[in-house]
Amino acid sequence: MKHNFDEVVNRVNSGSLKWDGIEERLGIKDKGLLPMWVADMDFRTPQPILDAIKEKTEHGVLGYAGGYDEYFETIVNWMKHRHQWEIQKEWIVFGGNLVSVLSRIIRTFTKPEDKIIVQSPVFATFFHIIQDNGRQVVNNPLKLNGKSYEMDFDDLEKKFDPKVKLMLLCSPHNPVGRVWSQEELIRLGELCIKNNVLIVSDEIHAETVFKGNKHISFGSISEEFSQNSIICTSPHKAFNMAGLEISNTIIPNDSLRKSFENMLGSDGINKPNLLGIAALKAAYTECDEWLSQAMDYCEANYRFLCKYLKDNIPEVEAIKMEGTYLVWLNCKGLNLNHKVLEERLIKEAKLLLSQGYTFGEGGNGFVRMNIACPKLTLEEALVRLKKVVSNM
Ligand SMILES: Cc1ncc(COP(=O)(O)O)c(C=O)c1O
Repeated sequence: MKHNFDEVVNRVNSGSLKWDGIEERLGIKDKGLLPMWVADMDFRTPQPILDAIKEKTEHGVLGYAGGYDEYFETIVNWMKHRHQWEIQKEWIVFGGNLVSVLSRIIRTFTKPEDKIIVQSPVFATFFHIIQDNGRQVVNNPLKLNGKSYEMDFDDLEKKFDPKVKLMLLCSPHNPVGRVWSQEELIRLGELCIKNNVLIVSDEIHAETVFKGNKHISFGSISEEFSQNSIICTSPHKAFNMAGLEISNTIIPNDSLRKSFENMLGSDGINKPNLLGIAALKAAYTECDEWLSQAMDYCEANYRFLCKYLKDNIPEVEAIKMEGTYLVWLNCKGLNLNHKVLEERLIKEAKLLLSQGYTFGEGGNGFVRMNIACPKLTLEEALVRLKKVVSNM
């Protein structure tokens, strides 16, 4: 079946953060903005997921959920068929939204003042959850090599010290669009083991990968790596169901898992939500075809964007994407201070993108654009961008 990703679904007044939460979250009052910031899709969520939720509501009783065997089985099968990693049911620890899980992981495995490594530019919330928990950020910035980013292992080696306890790995990487190779992950994993650093691999973007690239789940690489890592997964990004707040953390190491379960227990987190369970099961069993077409569509959007920029706005360059649906745009050719760039994009282009400087060191002069939207929306965004650039 061919799905129609060209359909423009009106999300205004639907309770969407991206469309309705702009003033609330960012304090910007303009109703005429085209929002391409928050990382969810403007596509309709796959029908099997909507049907599964409907079935639950039509049953008519929305009481406490229980009887999770099939739920965990579904995740085991998904990891096997999608990521070629054979996990045990017992390794899966349920969580709500992934940010809350990451924050609890930080509290469980580090103490105040401990250091945590991140690789900027990176998902801005990483910085907040480290600092808000009273831990210190240690940055190992990514290096831009031509149109693509790579890890800087020489710098990383210099950053380890006994206070560094944990590394937050973003894999695939938001916002630079890298799908890390096996070689890169192995080098990283070995350095972390040598320096007693636990790897927390945020794999929320694991399934949004462009053709010719393969996401490798960190824990699948070796027994040694799986014992020194926590793998965070969720159907949120791939199946456009972030509003359901459901994620699963895979912790093969018994002692790490017990510690984390204790932390969750003390916060009263012990069961997935009823609608989230139904949605996840449908996502992981009935939506492969939808996902493959959605990613083909995003990839076509990316190609369209690159050509449009080359032909019309050569001052702005798209970084090479291997995965996610978030394009990292290099705007340094515009020669604007990052605050001026932000102001002109919002006030003149009426375009709401994620501002590069919020992603930490290396982000200035860049913006992130979410292209999981109908081509028509992307075209409109590019026309707005072109108009404002031609007036500069
Ligand atoms: C790398 C990464 N982790 C976590 C999240 C947020 O996940 P959640 O909505 O489940 O808290 C995002 C959202 O964009 C993300 O890009």
